[in-house]
Amino acid sequence: MTATPGQVLSSFLPTLLLGFTAGQPFITLTGPSQRTAPGNLVPFNCTAGPFSNQDFNVTWMKDRDEHPASAQRPMTNDKGNYFITSKVWVKLVPQDVSSEITCEVTHGDLVKPLYKTMNLSQVLRVVPTVKITTKPSGASIHVQERVNLTCHVSHFYPSHLNLILMKNRHRIQTVSSPQVTRNPDGTYSLEHMWQAEATLNGSEFACWVIQDEQPPVQVNITLRAQAHRMSKARRSHSYVLQGPLQRSEPGTSIQLTYMSSEFSTRQVTVTWLKNNHKLPKLQTSVHLSGDTYNVTSSVLVPLQADDVLSHVFCHVRHNTTLVLQKIINLDQYLRVPPAVTVSQSSPSSNLVAITCHVQRFYPQSVHLTWLENCHMFQGAEKPTSKQNSDGTYTLESLQLVNVSLQGSERVFTCKVQHEARPPIQANLILSAIAHATYKPIGSPGPETPAIIFVVLLLGFKVMLLMSFTVAYIHRWWNV
Ligand SMILES: *[C@@H]1O[C@H](CO)[C@@H](O)[C@H](O)[C@H]1NC(C)=O
Ligand SMILES: *[C@@H]1O[C@H](CO)[C@@H](O)[C@H](O)[C@H]1NC(C)=O
Ligand SMILES: *[C@@H]1O[C@H](CO)[C@@H](O)[C@H](O)[C@H]1NC(C)=O
Ligand SMILES: *[C@@H]1O[C@H](CO)[C@@H](O)[C@H](O)[C@H]1NC(C)=O
Ligand SMILES: *[C@@H]1O[C@H](CO)[C@@H](O)[C@H](O)[C@H]1NC(C)=O
Ligand SMILES: *[C@@H]1O[C@H](CO)[C@@H](O)[C@H](O)[C@H]1NC(C)=O
Ligand SMILES: *[C@@H]1O[C@H](CO)[C@@H](O)[C@H](O)[C@H]1NC(C)=O
Ligand SMILES: *[C@@H]1O[C@H](CO)[C@@H](O)[C@H](O)[C@H]1NC(C)=O
Ligand SMILES: *[C@@H]1O[C@H](CO)[C@@H](O)[C@H](O)[C@H]1NC(C)=O
Repeated sequence: MTATPGQVLSSFLPTLLLGFTAGQPFITLTGPSQRTAPGNLVPFNCTAGPFSNQDFNVTWMKDRDEHPASAQRPMTNDKGNYFITSKVWVKLVPQDVSSEITCEVTHGDLVKPLYKTMNLSQVLRVVPTVKITTKPSGASIHVQERVNLTCHVSHFYPSHLNLILMKNRHRIQTVSSPQVTRNPDGTYSLEHMWQAEATLNGSEFACWVIQDEQPPVQVNITLRAQAHRMSKARRSHSYVLQGPLQRSEPGTSIQLTYMSSEFSTRQVTVTWLKNNHKLPKLQTSVHLSGDTYNVTSSVLVPLQADDVLSHVFCHVRHNTTLVLQKIINLDQYLRVPPAVTVSQSSPSSNLVAITCHVQRFYPQSVHLTWLENCHMFQGAEKPTSKQNSDGTYTLESLQLVNVSLQGSERVFTCKVQHEARPPIQANLILSAIAHATYKPIGSPGPETPAIIFVVLLLGFKVMLLMSFTVAYIHRWWNV
């Protein structure tokens, strides 16, 4: 907001009127203190004096045309001198950037008329028209293409303004006093270019033009890549990769399936590799669906106990272009059941340590319980598992047993629950009679240990019975 020279003078006017007793007549011309947009009426004042009488004429000219005054008032000061003040209202138009207003005062005292001229550009603000264009434009914008965006700011006055560029309602750049070009009509125009990447979702770009403290003039454009115009060979294919819903044990095979659609030609090859070796048992089918092709490829992957850290690669090529390269970790499909055994330490005093070894299982979570003669054994601390170098886990649980306690044969069972499968258990028999001799019996299945136990017990009793029988027969024979 530049204060016009006229405005500064106008505040001195009363002083001037009082101060000038006689002497040289002067003339002042004042306009509005703020710039105004075209379409509005703005006032101008012209004051001249001192004169010896009231015989003065005031003429207003806008460029070459006379403009009627709206009010005219003669004044006198205390020295009896005359002054004239004249007012005019001018309706501004955009072309007034190069117009001027002139106040001319004629009086008998003057050899030649007094006049004062003011450029209307001093009081004018022309608001620009703003638009954004893109290159390339519209339907020919591809995904991830760099697009030139241009903000065109046309026909403004004065030349100074600031630009703010926005993306999705966030400021990305402020351009202070950008370079402008002058138009023949005296106004200014500018173009500001920046680049952005087109996305399928689209982004909203806005250009804000700020003149002085005026509210910004805003325009926006949404830059969106056109999916359907894309070259079909370069399209990113959506796909589905499926595996079994449940884990499988080593020794079995799982089926992995890749499915995709909208291939432009049938030249699609799917390759499956396990640990960098091609998997042979695959089936790939390509079938027409409308004017594109659907692809389905399935492969059988054999599982081994050491496959926790293994992976399968799925490579899809469309006419030699790699369109998918995906790593599938096999641990998500693998269940390795643990080997469970129980061992014991040699006793110190009355205590013997019995340890349950739960080895090489996957995934990590197991639930271990100790039983003594089929009853839950209290006081077991929760053991933590350790990971082996092959990715499987191992866990050990140790119990101290007081062997001096009274009782018959005591059977300790370590029962391991893994992955909602039937529990795996192992037993250890402690004999109360033969304090320090233990018979550890490892067993892989849930049923076997009981059978062995029964057989052992039966065997012992049969032997006892036989020895009695032998002794009896021997006696009977002797008698
Ligand atoms: C013009 O003069 C009148 C009084 O004479 C004053 O009220 C008005 O503010 C003046 N306008 C300008 C633009 O100086
Ligand atoms: C003022 O205008 C009137 C009418 O046009 C004219 O008669 C008179 O001479 C003019 N006065 C001066 C000082 O020019
Ligand atoms: C008025 O405009 C002219 C050209 O149109 C220029 O030469 C002159 O300096 C301007 N005067 C002011 C006071 O701005
Ligand atoms: C975008 O602008 C750059 C720099 O001015 C130019 O080299 C390129 O050709 C433009 N791109 C388009 C599509 O107009
Ligand atoms: C595109 O839009 C979708 C849904 O509005 C959104 O989930 C996704 O993240 C967007 N993608 C990008 C790249 O902005
Ligand atoms: C973008 O322009 C539209 C229509 O002109 C308008 O409704 C919307 O509010 C504008 N958005 C911004 C951020 O200015
Ligand atoms: C091809 O795949 C699409 C998307 O998965 C599916 O909608 C369409 O039914 C499939 N066409 C055939 C012939 O299988
Ligand atoms: C496939 O590739 C060959 C050799 O690069 C090329 O000649 C052919 O035009 C391609 N076909 C399609 C459909 O892209
Ligand atoms: C073992 O049990 C016996 C008999 O109840 C008891 O006297 C002894 O203190 C126990 N030993 C330990 C180490 O708990």
